[in-house]
Amino acid sequence: MVDVKSILKENAVIAEETLEYYFSPERIGVGKLQDAMKYATLGGGKRVRACLALEFAKLFAKSDMTARPYAAALEMIHAFSLIHDDLPCMDDDDMRRGKPSCHVAFGEATALLAGDTLLTYAFETASSAEGVTDVAVRHAIYALSRNTGPFGIGGGQQMDLSNSASTYEELKKLHSMKTSALIKAACLCGYYSTLTGEPDDAIVSDISEYAECVGLAFQIKDDLLDLKGDAALLGKRVGVDEKNGRVNSLSFMSPEEAEAECERLSDRASAIVSKYEGSDFLSAFPGYLNNRNK
Ligand code: IPE
Ligand code: IPE
Ligand code: MG
Ligand code: MG
Ligand code: MG
Repeated sequence: MVDVKSILKENAVIAEETLEYYFSPERIGVGKLQDAMKYATLGGGKRVRACLALEFAKLFAKSDMTARPYAAALEMIHAFSLIHDDLPCMDDDDMRRGKPSCHVAFGEATALLAGDTLLTYAFETASSAEGVTDVAVRHAIYALSRNTGPFGIGGGQQMDLSNSASTYEELKKLHSMKTSALIKAACLCGYYSTLTGEPDDAIVSDISEYAECVGLAFQIKDDLLDLKGDAALLGKRVGVDEKNGRVNSLSFMSPEEAEAECERLSDRASAIVSKYEGSDFLSAFPGYLNNRNK
């Protein structure tokens, strides 16, 4: 049996060390902006996206080295999305990862800039990765930008704000953009970082479907934790969706149905990846994420 918890932890350590490297004063300078960027990115977070990038690189190249800059870039983009998500004009959330949200600690204007700057610095990081081919960089940058822009986090968060989903099918489109998209970028960047020639369409298709399922289940579980999770464990407030009158998964299904949907999605994800040799962790990870309490 694969020890998912320990492997996630090992990958989280690699992700944090890589982030520390990219956040050194020689690379980003010093000041309030840099402090806010580091505050929001380091020290906390499960590192799910970094882990997926590192593990997909290992699946195709037996080493995570090529994926490390992408793992860092993905966590920067994720941190940007969380800073902005917590702003008073978005979810108005004052706790994140067990400490005051970035705008509470640094003020709204600096939090806004820290988010923008993390997003931009992620692309500097991804485009200057060493030890990877030009083909790898081109595909990775496309995956990161495509899944962060109008068809990714940006578009999904705007749909979330409009709060207009009237069926679960509609909500799924939004979840696919706001949550699955970055998870897809993570899985693809892991594979792309190993490329020596053009990517294989069948592999890209399998990875994309795996990520879609993992992302949809991840957001349903996040909605479940918002309903009945433990704020102390989560490090963020619960009941935020209700407070904001936000349509979420539980607007369309009972908690039991939501759990069953997570299981269906994670089984599908596991089935897709299990045909690849060495995929034990990636097959077990979706089920592990369904059982998380933070
Ligand atoms: C929270 O993401 C935001 C969602 C997309 C649901 P995570 O649950 O991965 O947050 P951290 O990185 O562990 O703090
Ligand atoms: C966040 O969804 C999705 C993002 C792209 C940041 P939520 O608003 O539900 O995430 P949490 O619950 O605040 O972490
Ligand atoms: Mg939100
Ligand atoms: Mg939120
Ligand atoms: Mg939530």
